Amino acid sequence: MGKREYKKFDLGAARSTYGTPNFKYGCMYMPWPGRSLDYSHGYVATNEDLRHTTGLTRDMARKVLTIAGSGDQALFYQLNGATKIDTFDVSFCAGAIQDIKSTAIKLNLPYDEYNRLLNDLHFAHSASRVENMPQILDKASPKYADFVRNMDGYKIFGAGLSPNLYQNQILDADEYAKLQSDGVMENKFIWANASDVHAHLVEEYDVINLSNIFEWAPGIMIPTLASLRNHVRPGGYILVQTGCGISIGKNFSQFRMAQEKFKKWAKMGINKQKREDQVVILERVR
Ligand SMILES: C[S@@+](CC[C@H](N)C(=O)[O-])C[C@H]1O[C@@H](n2cnc3c(N)ncnc32)[C@H](O)[C@@H]1O
Repeated sequence: MGKREYKKFDLGAARSTYGTPNFKYGCMYMPWPGRSLDYSHGYVATNEDLRHTTGLTRDMARKVLTIAGSGDQALFYQLNGATKIDTFDVSFCAGAIQDIKSTAIKLNLPYDEYNRLLNDLHFAHSASRVENMPQILDKASPKYADFVRNMDGYKIFGAGLSPNLYQNQILDADEYAKLQSDGVMENKFIWANASDVHAHLVEEYDVINLSNIFEWAPGIMIPTLASLRNHVRPGGYILVQTGCGISIGKNFSQFRMAQEKFKKWAKMGINKQKREDQVVILERVR
């Protein structure tokens, strides 16, 4: 497969993805496997306690590969000391929201307007018309600006629940101010499925974060870990999973199989958080 991060988006394919979205609770996931996720709705707010998760590897996670998701993963890794962050996601919309967020911070959008932006984007059927979006898109990466403008009429950032419900998880005012004064780092977005992302990598990371993927696609867990294990340095970590209420229990047999398969290579541990959120951690031992 070629370098998909440079592949141009296909507007017809993107629009057709939005056939029958379920708007009852924001947008539900599009069903998968069996359907293209290349353009599935982006999340505007993390549902994870990223302060906790990225804090687990504070001071050692300099080079990080993480799922892009809502874009909050990269921001929290930066706050916790990362100096190089590559991100990936199967959905192009994740690349777009990540770029929109970092552009908004670079433009010094006041914190309350940033929060309003997330909320408005989540509910908007035409993201480019949301308050502050015209100036953000003028400064954003042209490929995302082009995509967002051309997807007016489609609820491209409607995944998950209302961002108001995640007020404790998203950046607080101090974290936001720190990113404004430090400057948000440029990071590479790789548009790829987790199972293919290794084909785009040329280096070794301190931490690879694959959260919120395998609960939806347990079948790709073992091949994905096998393909990524040489991209984490000895002593580094792969964070495999976090809650969502479904968490580890649902795929416990897969985790047991992974533990058995990778036991010479990695130690596996479970880090329990509040509620039922959990993170499975593989530490590369050799
Ligand atoms: C479940 S969502 C939740 C948001 C995420 N927890 C956060 O904090 O931003 C995580 C992201 O995983 C992406 N995703 C799901 N399955 C994937 C896969 N097999 N490969 C790559 N990305 C995937 C989705 O497109 C979504 O952006």
